[in-house]
Amino acid sequence: MNHEANELIEMLRDAREYTRFVSEMGVETADEPSAIIERAPVDTEPSALFARTAPSLTSKAIESSASSQPRSTAKAPNQLAAASADSLFGEMAEPQPTFTASAETLSDIWTDIGDCTRCGLCEGRTQVVNTHGNPKARLMFVGEAPGADEDAQGKPFVGRAGQLLTKMIEAMGMKREEVIIGNVNRCRPPGNRQPTLEEAAICRPFLFREIATIKPEVIVVMGNTALRNLLEAREGITRVRGKFQDFRGIKVMPTFHPAYLLRDPSKKRETWADLKMVMEYLESVREKRTP
Ligand code: URA
Repeated sequence: MNHEANELIEMLRDAREYTRFVSEMGVETADEPSAIIERAPVDTEPSALFARTAPSLTSKAIESSASSQPRSTAKAPNQLAAASADSLFGEMAEPQPTFTASAETLSDIWTDIGDCTRCGLCEGRTQVVNTHGNPKARLMFVGEAPGADEDAQGKPFVGRAGQLLTKMIEAMGMKREEVIIGNVNRCRPPGNRQPTLEEAAICRPFLFREIATIKPEVIVVMGNTALRNLLEAREGITRVRGKFQDFRGIKVMPTFHPAYLLRDPSKKRETWADLKMVMEYLESVREKRTP
């Protein structure tokens, strides 16, 4: 088959996937197929995708001050009380080394978190919302912090944004149970405000410990809070999205937060392009494993 025919097939495939994604996400003004094809991204060769991989962002994301403490001594708010991410990932220095996988289980980490009072967010929450999903997932999604629904149900991403995230995962050809989903912060901030830098710094070492346990092949960071806490990017999500980053040897794809997509559905197109890159990367890794 010649190059043009291949390209056309690829565009049609894009159009079909995109239409499904858009319709599953409930966009009211469905695109005409021809308009979709016109705008469908064409550079879907894995080589083209990896050529777009950005150099690693300077990441000072791991706190050197976060030290492991038994919960009984970890009561003071504003104390960096989670286990040392440095001990898991090594000293922060460029180039970042690949982290050493952890032997602890997610249950160990959640027991350590317990009925956490390490920061002031504990005062307004109903319950701690831990990471949820398949502990052996190849793909992890990270958001900001629980909202009202998550606070009530004790699971991340179960409200409107969560329902959209489920559709995004299904559009990728996966089930929600196959992946794992977490947040930078585990307690709902009052009025759904963004967690402060300090609140995020207190909580995120638990996420890093989970990552070391799960060892996902790709992490999708959704929105600025997740981006800045995992990678400490200087730039915002709009500039960084769609470019693979590195977190200690794990591919990280920054994309828009589903809550933002609910406010601005026109950004679903770019989000879908980002998710496609993730799908293609996961597929390429699987192919390498099973030649
Ligand atoms: N938004 C988030 O960032 N996380 C959730 O769990 C829900 C909404």
